[in-house]
Amino acid sequence: MTGTTRTSRTPDGPTAPGTAGIRLTVLGGGGFRVPLVHRALLDDAAAGSAGRCTDLVLHDTDPGRLAAIAAVLAEQTERHGGPAPAVHTTTDLDEALRGADFVFSAIRVGGLAGRVGDERVPLAEGLLGQETVGAGGILYGLRTVPVATHIAERVAAVAPDAWVINFTNPAGMVTEAMSRVLGDRVIGICDSPVGLCRRAARAVGADPDRADYDYVGLNHLGWLRRIVVDGTDRLPALLADSAALESFEEGKLFGADWLRTLGALPNEYLHYYYHHREALAAIREADATRGEFLARQQEDFYARPADGTAARGAFEAWEATRREREETYMAESRQASGGWQRDSCDLEGGGYDRVALALMRAVAVNERTTLILNVRNRGAVPGLDADAVVEVPCLVDAGGARPLATGAVAPDQLGLMLQLKAVERATIEAATTRSRSTALRALALHPLVDSVHAAGRVLDGARPPFP
Ligand code: G6P
Ligand code: MN
Repeated sequence: MTGTTRTSRTPDGPTAPGTAGIRLTVLGGGGFRVPLVHRALLDDAAAGSAGRCTDLVLHDTDPGRLAAIAAVLAEQTERHGGPAPAVHTTTDLDEALRGADFVFSAIRVGGLAGRVGDERVPLAEGLLGQETVGAGGILYGLRTVPVATHIAERVAAVAPDAWVINFTNPAGMVTEAMSRVLGDRVIGICDSPVGLCRRAARAVGADPDRADYDYVGLNHLGWLRRIVVDGTDRLPALLADSAALESFEEGKLFGADWLRTLGALPNEYLHYYYHHREALAAIREADATRGEFLARQQEDFYARPADGTAARGAFEAWEATRREREETYMAESRQASGGWQRDSCDLEGGGYDRVALALMRAVAVNERTTLILNVRNRGAVPGLDADAVVEVPCLVDAGGARPLATGAVAPDQLGLMLQLKAVERATIEAATTRSRSTALRALALHPLVDSVHAAGRVLDGARPPFP
């Protein structure tokens, strides 16, 4: 049980990098969210923070996307003024990794077209089609695990001392696959647990930075069980107060009655389990899937020529697309989720960029902190084995991230975690061995897939074909 941002410098630990700053490599460097990470790095540089990034290496397999984002960063730097990391771009993986202190892995194998397939193929079978949950998440995992494993192997060969911070979804499964190569040098992150914790703390009138959070689960499958402020658990009082409970995203999503029945606050992704029927109906009725919406929306931005004079205005083009995306997000997600108002702009200090930089700083300058991260269990969650990657509060310092003991997990929660862990592991095994029967096992064992026959047809529709 831990606070998310309370920090203390350890005086006798390894010292800040001093003159030699951090070399940070971003895999998926042509991704639309990269300017958000860059903005956080610029703010860091301006604040003169210890352990700041001096070299930012962007790697992408698509040179066009890389050029488009590099043009945005160049203008962003110009507008920001002051010290900034030098930005390098490359499509060569080993070159990108060489000399890296930290590697952010944020790739989308198959791009948004792949995501649309992951959504549409299960939907055609009447199953949930979602980026990371259900059959869609398994299809995404089958495509992504081999690529993530290859990256892990290249890191081990070329930059064995680097820390890998994995944003690539399905993040729990992908982090576990990478940990088989990199051990505890890979740490997975997600913005949803910290967002939930901070929103809940604010709902009880507490300073989110001064609360301790007892959160346990797998990625996109977790529960906040206690919010401790000055030694008192404030969750029971919150659960008793419907108005306070329904004042924030997860409270609105799940409703006060169900939260009281459950006695915990679930991660927003549990909506697909607890309200499966309604979520599926809403997605089926929507004109476009989330992937289709994003693909349409980003098309124009990436179609801009990013060379010569056309590069000017790149930042405005990116910013306009980002703003439009945020404005439409609420309406889109309300439609897609059947009433769930996802407050994407209100990240409560927990956006991916900030979680990743908080983690990087804590490791780089030994600034001890606690963050909810995806790491190997090592006994923290009773009932799951030591190598299972779990999403729990971790103590972070120069030695990496160590999961904190969670105490007993309720049978319904542990049961779901064990089932999903089995599904994740079957997916990893199938992706590694290219075994159809193992992939079928992964799909058919998922609690949201209600027919082995339908699972088989989903596998037949996988894009690209599997095996
Ligand atoms: C949250 C989740 C991510 C997920 C993203 C999807 O941030 O934590 O894991 O990828 O939402 O957002 P998008 O805008 O791509 O639908
Ligand atoms: Mn996530």
